Amino acid sequence: MLKLILAVSLILPSAFAQNSNVIPKPNELIKKSGSFQLSAETRIIAEKGAEKTAKLLRGYLRPATGFSLTAQGSSNQIILKLDKNTASDKASYTLQVSPKKIIINASDETGLFYGCQTLRQLLPAQIFSKKRQKGVKWTIPSLCIKDAPRFGWRGLMLDSSRHFQTVTEVKRFIDLMAMHKFNVFHWHLTDSHGWRIEIKKYPKLTEVGAWRDQPDYPKKGKKGRYGGFYTQEEIKEVVAYAKARHITIVPEIDMPGHSFAAVASYPHLGCTQKGQYVDYFFTYPANKQSFPNRRGKTDVLCASRPKTLEFCRDVLDEVITLFPSQYIHIGGDEVEKHVWKHCQSCQSFIKDNALNKEDGLQSWFIQQLDHYLTAKGKRLLGWDEILQGGLAQNATVMSWQGEKGGIRAAKMGHDVVMSPQTYIYLDHGQSHSPLEPPHWPGHKPLNRVYNYEPIPSQLSTEEAKHILGVQANVWTAFIHEQWKLDLSTWPRASAVAEVAWSAKEARNYGDFYTRMENSHFKRLDHIGVNYWRENSLELGQWSPTDLKPNQEISSISFNLKPLYSKLKNEKVDIVFSYTKGAHALRIEDVALFENGKLVSRDQHDGHTGGSSKANNYTIDFSKVTGKGELTLKVTAYGDGGNDSYGKITASQVLTKRVK
Ligand code: ACM
Repeated sequence: MLKLILAVSLILPSAFAQNSNVIPKPNELIKKSGSFQLSAETRIIAEKGAEKTAKLLRGYLRPATGFSLTAQGSSNQIILKLDKNTASDKASYTLQVSPKKIIINASDETGLFYGCQTLRQLLPAQIFSKKRQKGVKWTIPSLCIKDAPRFGWRGLMLDSSRHFQTVTEVKRFIDLMAMHKFNVFHWHLTDSHGWRIEIKKYPKLTEVGAWRDQPDYPKKGKKGRYGGFYTQEEIKEVVAYAKARHITIVPEIDMPGHSFAAVASYPHLGCTQKGQYVDYFFTYPANKQSFPNRRGKTDVLCASRPKTLEFCRDVLDEVITLFPSQYIHIGGDEVEKHVWKHCQSCQSFIKDNALNKEDGLQSWFIQQLDHYLTAKGKRLLGWDEILQGGLAQNATVMSWQGEKGGIRAAKMGHDVVMSPQTYIYLDHGQSHSPLEPPHWPGHKPLNRVYNYEPIPSQLSTEEAKHILGVQANVWTAFIHEQWKLDLSTWPRASAVAEVAWSAKEARNYGDFYTRMENSHFKRLDHIGVNYWRENSLELGQWSPTDLKPNQEISSISFNLKPLYSKLKNEKVDIVFSYTKGAHALRIEDVALFENGKLVSRDQHDGHTGGSSKANNYTIDFSKVTGKGELTLKVTAYGDGGNDSYGKITASQVLTKRVK
């Protein structure tokens, strides 16, 4: 029987089974014998219509190799073929590598571009370096890949309002997206903390609204003017840059909430009609103590005044001319409707138009924007709050408050982009490590992000067709600089790329992480990405049976002898991570004993539960001889009840910059 199974598995085509370390994982990959050698003799040949992609590919391969890839009369060729008759999705491609030829074939330059991204990843990781790499053999294994994306919307959102990124930084973000075959860059350009897009008709939006008085900036204890904005010329440059990389930029202009910067610039737009200030964080960089920041002095766009709608339409007019995207995101989230509740103009408007309170006003307002954008041939996209009070006719919903908004909208026949904060908000924390810098509350480790499934099981096959795809969001309240943007985004966005691109049945976290370890972290290293990486070794678990009732102190022992080879000579953080139960675990003491003799100890009060604090203990393994029994003793108790479960891990942070 065993022989039979082995024989069958050898005969079956090896699609899925083969691992090329490409991320996102291609649909079908069959390895062949032999390999292609990229050398100074290699020539990239663009067949008709493929010239732009060939130029990009040369640009990708030249810095690390030094090859011009224009050699004449060469028998060693990379051929880009554009076969418009191939009846397939624009993004699909085939890539065939044989010893003398590589052929990338697609029906559109989009597919060719993705074939080139895959080709880069088939080369040694050094290809991603901008510096010439000496002594590397640029070998590509012979194979055949057939690939196409699962979803048409593969997005990342970058918040440029809470903290501002330069054009160079935005382009770098776009380059990293392109490498992962993302195709939508959702650009969050306005919010209460800064208006970042030049609008010619309303110059104060950037003269006033792009700047905030920021405590601790540029130095602790001082208060300085923080901000910046993109001129229309810069916006056009970024849009063209993204387009060349087959990425559509969907701009987001927040209306009617998250609009403090607009109201500060033009006070007549707000319900209070009073000039206020652009929002700021209490500290720079921001931490948990930096919120909330307005101390009740809030304002939103006054939805009832004709001047407000005129402003929104004028702004959208300029936005539409800058962004060719079919979708325009108008925000619509977290409108502080209590301001409308206390606004005489809004209350009269609600009464006169028989609207259903403030939700009805919000719905009416979004409908006006929907009519306007629809008449201009665009589609309105908004956060799931636009469902409140009734969804506008042509609106598409971005589901962020979990999946329920997306499910509701899809069942109503509206298109949806899934972007739930419960899985894929990349500003949330990703570890239990004390070294992870301050982040928005929430824990979204890499495996949780990876295991997100964008098609909710509650939808029928027909309803599921409304799920356009998936998008992860990088809010920057806590992300003030490039190194931290990298750290929050990567490698979790690599996981999102695979959720968005790869077939559901081909996805496997263990397999993904192996590819990360084998190659992808190295690629990111060569680019210089400051991704989050932690070696986390599970030492054991606790459960209610380890804990005494009535808050009595328990001593829990773990035999670490079998794990010693992985821990020796290291100083590690032992982290307690609660997984379930109604009551937290309180930890008082963690100590390491060898043959009963104390080797290392960390005594302090920590807890892990719904929230965790000081739940990491530094233990030094360098004095362990390795000859005897090795025991970790934990002194802890169940806080109010002994029903908690959790795990204990030893963690080492490998990220280059964490503070
Ligand atoms: C959001 O995170 N407020 C859309």
